Amino acid sequence: MKLIVLFCIFILTLPVHAYVAQTTTATQRKEIEFLHWWTAHGEVAAFNLVKEALENAGMTIQDQPIQGGGGDTAMSILQARAIAGTPPDLVQLEGPSIQSWAALGFLYQLDKVATDENWQENLLPIARDVNQYQGHYVAIPITVHRLNWMWINRKVLRTYGLAVPTSWDELIDVFTRLKKHGVEPLALGKEQWQIALLFENLAFGYGGADYYQRAFINLEPQALNSQTTYDILARFRVISRLVKPGMSHIRWDEGTQLLIEGERVFQISGDWVLGELLAGKVSVPATIGCYPTPSQQTGFIYNMDSFALFDSPRSHEETAKIVSQTLASPEFLKAFNKVKGSIPARKDIALDGFNSCSVNAKADMQIAAQTGQLLPSIVDSMAVSPLVQQATSSEILRFFNDENMKPKDFILHLQNIPRGE
Ligand code: BGC
Repeated sequence: MKLIVLFCIFILTLPVHAYVAQTTTATQRKEIEFLHWWTAHGEVAAFNLVKEALENAGMTIQDQPIQGGGGDTAMSILQARAIAGTPPDLVQLEGPSIQSWAALGFLYQLDKVATDENWQENLLPIARDVNQYQGHYVAIPITVHRLNWMWINRKVLRTYGLAVPTSWDELIDVFTRLKKHGVEPLALGKEQWQIALLFENLAFGYGGADYYQRAFINLEPQALNSQTTYDILARFRVISRLVKPGMSHIRWDEGTQLLIEGERVFQISGDWVLGELLAGKVSVPATIGCYPTPSQQTGFIYNMDSFALFDSPRSHEETAKIVSQTLASPEFLKAFNKVKGSIPARKDIALDGFNSCSVNAKADMQIAAQTGQLLPSIVDSMAVSPLVQQATSSEILRFFNDENMKPKDFILHLQNIPRGE
């Protein structure tokens, strides 16, 4: 909602801001201000590669990291800066928000680099449309992250003689047994984003891709008001009761630390966790294993990071050209994704030297693409408008926290979410 209101205000105050304005009057700046939400160890290690690549191309980076997994805070700050007329030069963006910013005329058009790098041919199909606006590329595709991962401390699981769960009911059983031994099962912070991601994994895994698409992306009343939703909410309630006593206000990377230390046994989150583990020199998958969260078929929930160049009176076309050429290069994308724990958004980059979890993720992604099981995340800004994303996530959080909230109320609230962009 906030995004929409701010966009409207901006349109009214700056009606002449044209799409793909290419400012040529400013003198070429060597300093690039980069706004992003990479603050964990693995993320910083990956970000340092951005810095290094741009420095090698003659630029310097003024780093603007904004704390907050999932990027909600970073996006609020971006909106405020855009309204003030001082957007950063380079921004980490995801999903439909790329088109929203382009529609308002903020983003540099990147067709030149897209043609030079043959993006139409070389990008993964899921990375094509989302980085374009009205047929023009407006953002550089960087990562594909898999979100339906269970990261498991294998030693602790072994200590209690427990097997890796292959269904959500088995997972509940394993959590229950761990609790009986006085062990907290899940590394999960109280942030809305983290809890919504857990629900997304459960809804996709238990209900299947078709149900998940109809219920949570299309918000189809019939799919929402189905027995499947009731079954999912019943399991979500059981999981909430099991994990809530061990929860506190921790960031996702603090959760990963607890997992490494054996204070928690599972973490259900995207493969930025892999980047964090690799930065901490943890051996993966030997010590911390990566397993897809239980699902009906081989499934893959994704989000993607892109870099967008913001146009402002101080930007310069030559600078934009150098930045986009550098960050779109296969060499940069390979080095970056290896450290980040993600898969390159280009399909022509071999994964030699990548961790085996990333190699497995790519293989699963290819299977999922062929079987209709490759779907964008609802909670991590990929599948729905910011309004629907926020409204859905906040209902999930309410249900998780409020024992008195009935499944039928959850369903009703979701059915009533306005669909506007
Ligand atoms: C981003 C990742 C990031 C994660 C946690 C996601 O939204 O796509 O790049 O590592 O949030 O901060």
